[in-house]
Formats: sequence, structure tokens, C-alpha cells
Amino acid sequence: MTMMAADEAGIARAAAMLRAGELVAFPTETVYGLGADATDDRAVAKIFEAKARPGFNPLIVHADAAEKLDPVIVWNDSARLLARHFWPGPLTLVLPAAERCPISLLARAGLPTVAVRIPAHPVARALLAAAGIPVAAPSANPSGGLSPTTPLHVRAGLGDRIPIIAGGKSQVGIESTIIDLTGANPVLLRPGGIGAEQIEQCMVGKMGGKLAQADAAGMPKAPGQLASHYAPRLPLRMNVSAARDDEVFILFGPELGLRGGGLRKNLSRDGDLREAAANLFAFLHEADASALSGIAVSAIPEIGLGMAINDRLRRAAAP
Ligand code: TXA
Ligand code: MG
Repeated sequence: MTMMAADEAGIARAAAMLRAGELVAFPTETVYGLGADATDDRAVAKIFEAKARPGFNPLIVHADAAEKLDPVIVWNDSARLLARHFWPGPLTLVLPAAERCPISLLARAGLPTVAVRIPAHPVARALLAAAGIPVAAPSANPSGGLSPTTPLHVRAGLGDRIPIIAGGKSQVGIESTIIDLTGANPVLLRPGGIGAEQIEQCMVGKMGGKLAQADAAGMPKAPGQLASHYAPRLPLRMNVSAARDDEVFILFGPELGLRGGGLRKNLSRDGDLREAAANLFAFLHEADASALSGIAVSAIPEIGLGMAINDRLRRAAAP
């Protein structure tokens, strides 16, 4: 069950799984990716669950051709230039999300930007073409582990519940280079499969020939360009059992004994953490857009996806 051949039948089956909201690990030229329908919050939540990530990082959205990204991102001249030179290939571009961007807010970790890449691996491209949907895919390893470059690495890391397309060894072997093109100047967020010099050469004239570097925390050295995490505008309190009337009360599970709130929104009445993760960023955005003056959140268990949800909330609660 877990290993699928990288032939027409295997790819068709994997594409159907992706369209049905299931996870599929697949080869790219950089590393194996753990893919899910990038437009489906529930499917994306499964990625974070499978990787047991202690937090929600935004994910890279993959497509088989640049024009498929038209509904997803807002193109600019630098993006067109780099896309023409380096796609398909190990380059990821961070761009503003299009107005009616179909990408899951969870995949974007709530951000108004999207990271996009057209991989070069023929199996990845065939899968993306057959699926016909944008696919969110981090490296297919458990959080903190090494990035996998063979199907056996994937199985050793994630176990045999995840279907894997066995497409041989990833030739590049390190992740894609990530360039943020949302600010005034391009910023190198992560060195990777394409050298920074190559990108600078391609962009000479556009930015004086030098790429700004992000520091270790993912923040560019020139401040104020990139918000690497979405933070709600409103103050946020956690572990609340009685919310004020001027607060949006974000609940989890049965509401018995949880009082108050000018607007009440339940992440998952059934106490399903996957559903809660899928709703989290949408609810935070809705709260931020409301006329109320704060966000209260009821207790969320510190297990599985609950850890990532609480991590995000703790960051939002910190002044
Ligand atoms: O080579 C690769 O890029 C592989 C293959 C599978 O394509 N994928 C990969 O994904 O390395 P992952 O999740 O391990 O790394 C994604 C990186 C993270 O560092 C994340 O912070 C950054 O991309 N990222 C994603 N969306 C972003 C955004 N909107 N703004 C800034 N950084 C973003
Ligand atoms: Mg990774």
C-alpha cells in the first residue's frame, strides 16, 4: 500500500488521493515532499499532524506550470524574470497572495503572502498536472529530522501510513532557494539548490546586483519588510473560561461552563484538533476584522496538533 510506482497508474492513484484530501509523499529534484491539496485546510492540517511540527510554518505551494499560479499570487517583474530563468527548478518565490487566493490560510500560516515553486522532477510535474490542484508540500520528514532524498528515508521517518511515490533519489539533495519578492528589494530567506550568485547575476540591474540576506530568525536585515508570522491586531488571552463582552471568544470542544464573549466561534465542537487547526487562522482573521477589542481563547490540550495551535496562540498573546 505505502509504496506506489512512479508510473502512469501510480501517479493517477496518487493524484486521486491528493484530490480526495489525503497526503501523498512524492519525489522532487530537491527533496521528497509531503503533499496535500493546498486549497483544503483539513488536508493541510494533516501535514502538520504527520510531521508533528511544534508550530505552524507557512508551506510552499507547488504547481506544474507558472500560469497555474495566476489565481494564487500577484506577479511582479522580478518574479517573472526569475521564473523564466529558473523554473522548473529548485527556486521558491514568496509573493503577495492574489485577492481571491484559493490557498488555505493554514498553508500560509495566516500570512498575506504565498511561497510558490514549480519543481523540475518529471514525476512531481506529472503528479501536479494530474492532480490539477496546487499542492502544499514541506519536506517529507518528521519535524527536526533530516530532509528525505529517497522513498526509504520517507518511510523510515513517517512510517507506512503515508503513501509514497517511489521515484528514486532526489538529485539536488538540498531544499530550494527561497527569495522573498514582497518588499522593495529581493531578500534571500533560505540558501538552497540554486546559488545566490546565479540569482544575483540574473537580476543585475533590478537591485544593484546584491541580494539582501535574512538573518537566522528569517527576518531580513533591512527591517520592516517581512512579517514571517501572522500576528493578530487584537490582544489575545489564552486558557479563558469567562470571556468579556468586548472579546471574540474562540472555543474548543464542548462549551459547557465557558461563558461570555461578544462573538463566539468554536474551532471544533467535537474536540477534533485537525478541524481546530484548519479553522484557526480563519477565526483569528475574522476576530481581527470584527469591531470587538480582544480575543479570548479557551483551553486547548497540549497534545498532537494542539501543541502547534498553542504555540501560535502563545506568540499571538505575547506583547
Ligand atoms: O525544496 C523544497 O523547497 C522542498 C520541496 C518539497 O519542494 N520543500 C520545503 O518545504 O523545503 P519546507 O516546509 O521544509 O520549507 C518551507 C520554507 C519554510 O522555511 C517557510 O518558513 C518558508 O518556506 N515559507 C513558506 N511560505 C512563506 C511565506 N509566505 N513567507 C516566508 N517564508 C515562507
Ligand atoms: Mg523542511
